[in-house]
Amino acid sequence: MKPVIIDKEKCIGCGKCAADCVSEKIKIIDGKAEFMYDRCIQCGHCYAICPVGAVTMANYKDYEEEKVFDVTKIDSEDLLSAMKSRRTIRKFKDKEIPLAYIEKIIEAGRYCPTGTNAQDFAFTVLRKSVPEIEKECVRFFRVAMKAASPIKKYIGNVTIDDNFFFKGSTAVIIVSSKGNTSACLASSYMELMAATMGIGVLYSGFFVGASKMIPKVKKMLHLPEGHSPVTCLVLGYPDVEYQRIPPRNKAEIRFD
Ligand SMILES: Cc1cc2nc3c(=O)[nH]c(=O)nc-3n(C[C@H](O)[C@H](O)[C@H](O)COP(=O)(O)O)c2cc1C
Repeated sequence: MKPVIIDKEKCIGCGKCAADCVSEKIKIIDGKAEFMYDRCIQCGHCYAICPVGAVTMANYKDYEEEKVFDVTKIDSEDLLSAMKSRRTIRKFKDKEIPLAYIEKIIEAGRYCPTGTNAQDFAFTVLRKSVPEIEKECVRFFRVAMKAASPIKKYIGNVTIDDNFFFKGSTAVIIVSSKGNTSACLASSYMELMAATMGIGVLYSGFFVGASKMIPKVKKMLHLPEGHSPVTCLVLGYPDVEYQRIPPRNKAEIRFD
């Protein structure tokens, strides 16, 4: 089945879909748009742009039409301040995050751009298994800290306390993939979304490292075949308040 179906009855032949198709798969024939091949990247630009709703994305089931939000309604200064005000959170309140919030955070992640619209990531939510997985990682890192191992160099001179990886959080999302870029972009979207709901995030790079070093832990994550953890978002209600935005390096920019 073709991934894009164009309803000829509805099509007014305006050509907007054809003009916006990155893969050049749509042609206007006899005043109507026609999807010419069997495959495309299914980015949905033709669906999004059609003024009369003549396009259907055949491989997506049960999707509902969502209207486009005018992003210029968000004040750019507000957004910039929000981005600068985001801090890594390492102290969480003892309060559970509702499932609906976790789902919304993931919803934000899945809408990030991906090369060729690959959407090549998966989200693994850890809740019940957080203490058990953390215990395994802590045990491994403590042993590694005693030995003169390269892991010690990687970890640095830090105390491996019982909450070293997840900081007492009750919900952790692992973004996994076969690559890296898409999962990183998704994570960034997710972190910002979490912030709008009052949820703080710690990227636990140490956990990502641990999960790669400890086969038992990787197994406990039950990731899709061929996937590796790319990021680990440790979520929780912040139990810390910041008063000001710390400085950062000046952007290294070169204009031609
Ligand atoms: C990919 C990645 C991995 C990170 N891993 C850890 C970690 O394992 N433990 C930790 O305490 N902070 C971790 N951080 C947080 C960074 O230390 C933090 O982003 C940086 O110090 C700047 O602080 P800010 O996020 O509050 O601006 C990580 C951040 C990123 C982006």
